[in-house]
Formats: sequence, C-alpha cells, structure tokens
Amino acid sequence: MKNGLITAGIDIGSTTSKAALWIDDHLKSYVIGPSTTNPRATARECYERVLQDAGLQDDDVAYIVGTGYGRAKVSFADENISELSAHGKGAKTLLPSARTVIDIGGQDTKVVLLDAGGRMLEYVMNDKCAAGTGRFLEFIARSLGIEVKDLARLHANGNYQPVRLSSMCSVFIESEVINLVNDEVPLPFIVQGLHQSIANRVAALVKRVGLVEDVVITGGVAKNAGVVDALQRNLRVKLKTFPDGVDPQMMGGIGAAVIAKEMYLKRNQ
Ligand SMILES: Nc1ncnc2c1ncn2[C@@H]1O[C@H](COP(=O)(O)OP(=O)(O)OP(=O)(O)O)[C@@H](O)[C@H]1O
Ligand SMILES: [Mg+2]
Repeated sequence: MKNGLITAGIDIGSTTSKAALWIDDHLKSYVIGPSTTNPRATARECYERVLQDAGLQDDDVAYIVGTGYGRAKVSFADENISELSAHGKGAKTLLPSARTVIDIGGQDTKVVLLDAGGRMLEYVMNDKCAAGTGRFLEFIARSLGIEVKDLARLHANGNYQPVRLSSMCSVFIESEVINLVNDEVPLPFIVQGLHQSIANRVAALVKRVGLVEDVVITGGVAKNAGVVDALQRNLRVKLKTFPDGVDPQMMGGIGAAVIAKEMYLKRNQ
C-alpha cells in the first residue's frame, strides 16, 4: 500500500467532536471541534478536516470506526463501537502499562478496568449526575468569570487549602461557590475545592471497579492539571501521563482508529 494502512476514528462526544487518522502504528493527524445540533454534518466536517490536514483523501482510508455519544450519526463509518472500548484501546495503545482508564468528558465519567492484555474486565459509568463532569466545570468557571483552561493555574497558585463543598447537585454547588466568593475566600481555594469535589465523585466510581495501576486519565478534563492533582491526592496513586504531544482528549478517536485497523486486518487476512 502506497501510504501504509490508513484508518480513521471519529468520536462524536456530547461536547466535542474529534477525528483521528492512524497510519500503521502511529497517529498521523487529528482535529477537535465543538459538537453541534447536527452531529451528522459535524462528523463529516471533522473527517474532511483531518484528511485535509494530512494531505489525504477519503479513498486513501481503508476503514472508519465511529464512537462516542453520537456514533450512530457517523453515517460514513464502516462500524461503530462503544466509548468504553475506544478509550480503553487508545490508552492501552499509547501507554501499554495502563490498567485503569478514567475518562472524564463533557457529560459523563467512565472508568474502565483492563487486564494486562488490554481486554475490558469491568467498567462503570456515571451519566446521571452533572456535578462531576467537564460541562459542570465550564458552568462553574463561567459563574466565576474565568475559563476552564484557567482552572489549573488557579489550583496550583498558592497553598493547598481546598474549601469543602457540601452540596451534591451542580446548581447548589454554584450557589455555594458564589457565597464563598462573596465571603472573600481566595479563588484558588475555591477552585481546589471544586476539583476535590470532582475527585471525590470520580474516586467513588474507581472504587467500584477496583483500582489497578497504572492508572491513566483521558478526555478533555485530563487537560486540567488541577483535577489530576486532586485525583492523585484522593486515590493516593500517581496517574501516568501519555507521551509528550499526545492529547488525552483524543483517546476515544485514537482508540476507534486503532480498532478500525484491527477490524480491517481481520476482514482482509
Ligand atoms: N484545555 C483545557 N483545560 C481544561 N479543561 C478542558 C480543556 N479542554 C477541554 N476541557 C474540558 O473537557 C471537556 C470536554 O471533554 P471531551 O471532549 O472529552 O468531552 P466529550 O467527549 O464531548 O464528552 P462525553 O464523553 O462526556 O460525551 C470540556 O467540558 C472541558 O471541561
Ligand atoms: Mg467523550
């Protein structure tokens, strides 16, 4: 094959839409954009953009796998798979020692336990409660007049004195946070408390599947070093990081592209 074996993974999440191109054993290019009310068109756009970035055409791609919340809308995919399989496969491919994979996306949190060979042993998902997700962080950041990408800086700024947030529900947490601001509690301590409350929720999920090291975090929220820090303190383990330049938000898309390669090879052996 002229360009090697090229496959694509398209991850249509609740918050962002992602496309990855995998060539033989490495990531060729990827794109991340916002999800829209027209997932079918958004999936197509992401795919076209990722092809353009790589200087490739649809004909060059041997197999396409869709995943994520909107996977059924990736009408040009050959197959679609669950996000749990996609994140597990992506994490295992880029970090072979990974056994526990925590995906924190915009809308839900999933924890996948893998065996040493990468097979899924257990999983648990929280899709009922908004208060532990990326959208929740966006929502609270907005009420604080900051952006999600500023949260990590605030978390790391100064001493570690997280406030204790007692509310369980995102709307009540917001009013609690606003009260703390009015009481002139320093912003870093509020943000640390926010991250700690997320870490508590995620840790409860991790305990349900059991924790086996190495533990790795994927999804957009993995880019928030404050959440990573709070989780490490709570779980008392060091989370493993992906090699430099690998975006943890892309793990579902990458996993789908790797599974696309495996499916293609199986069908054409
Ligand atoms: N640079 C960043 N810093 C901090 N947080 C970020 C950053 N970029 C994205 N995020 C967070 O990532 C979230 C989106 O993550 P992701 O793209 O994994 O979600 P998704 O796959 O669409 O959602 P789901 O898997 O729940 O359907 C945003 O809500 C935001 O909180
Ligand atoms: Mg996702």
